[in-house]
Amino acid sequence: MKRKWLAALGALVIGIGMAASGETGMAKEKHKDIVNVSHRGASGYAPEHTLVSYEKGEKMHGDYIEVDLQMTKDGKLIAMHDETVDRTTNGTGRVKDYTLAQIKQLDTGSWFNEAYPQYANPDYEGLKVPTLEEVFQKFGKNAKYYIETKSPDVYPGMEKELLRLVNKYDINKDTLLVQSFSSLSLQKMQQLDPSVKLIQLLSYKSNAVITDAEIAAIKEYAVGVGPNHTYLNQEYVRKVVDSGLEIHPYTVNDKGRMQQLIDWGVTGMFTNFPDQLHEVKKGK
Ligand code: G3P
Ligand code: CA
Repeated sequence: MKRKWLAALGALVIGIGMAASGETGMAKEKHKDIVNVSHRGASGYAPEHTLVSYEKGEKMHGDYIEVDLQMTKDGKLIAMHDETVDRTTNGTGRVKDYTLAQIKQLDTGSWFNEAYPQYANPDYEGLKVPTLEEVFQKFGKNAKYYIETKSPDVYPGMEKELLRLVNKYDINKDTLLVQSFSSLSLQKMQQLDPSVKLIQLLSYKSNAVITDAEIAAIKEYAVGVGPNHTYLNQEYVRKVVDSGLEIHPYTVNDKGRMQQLIDWGVTGMFTNFPDQLHEVKKGK
């Protein structure tokens, strides 16, 4: 009897201690589960959308590798953010006007050394633009991929090609997320393969508000939303989380802001600095 009483007292003391430090068991668990998405890889430290950047993301505890997709003239999916090659290579012009062989002539590393001398590395010079196929070959079927269909109206058939490669490389669909600003592209994915989990990207120019009707419409095809973090507020985050949708804001590169968003209840976030989000999750 006495032993039981002592155990109860011990649990009470531990509980009070945790509450006083603001660290409840549940909060700790929540922190642990925050999904860390390496945005374009660890793109704060290495040229975005290169195998080096994706590798760094994994090393820095990013859970997911984020890959933006564009499509070449000969129908190959490549990892690139912009519709043109101008910003991130030494070439100019639109991706859709180049074959893969032509894209492979470009250097997608040197621009980074010029733009970010503090992180410059001679090894980045001459890096090639990877295809989605090469990404799957390098990181394998059990890596977690967070893939965006960019400009789907410019690249008809990109969803089908994405799915073909996912199936060819037997990518684990439990940990695959496909994201897009285009609800039509996501709905196309859903029709092609309802087992692929989808995230609706959203962009707000001022205070973010989401209605019940919008949430209900998104829930018809997606498991979550990815809004820009800038204009988010706690009420928005609560509403989305209470609806059962995931919420992964982009692109959060400040540790204070990461912590604030976690406190508001987000379930993950995109960052160019996955090591920093890892530290925040560890309470550092
Ligand atoms: O995919 C989340 C975020 O990356 C969307 O914005 O322009 O960086 O692709 P963007
Ligand atoms: Ca993206």
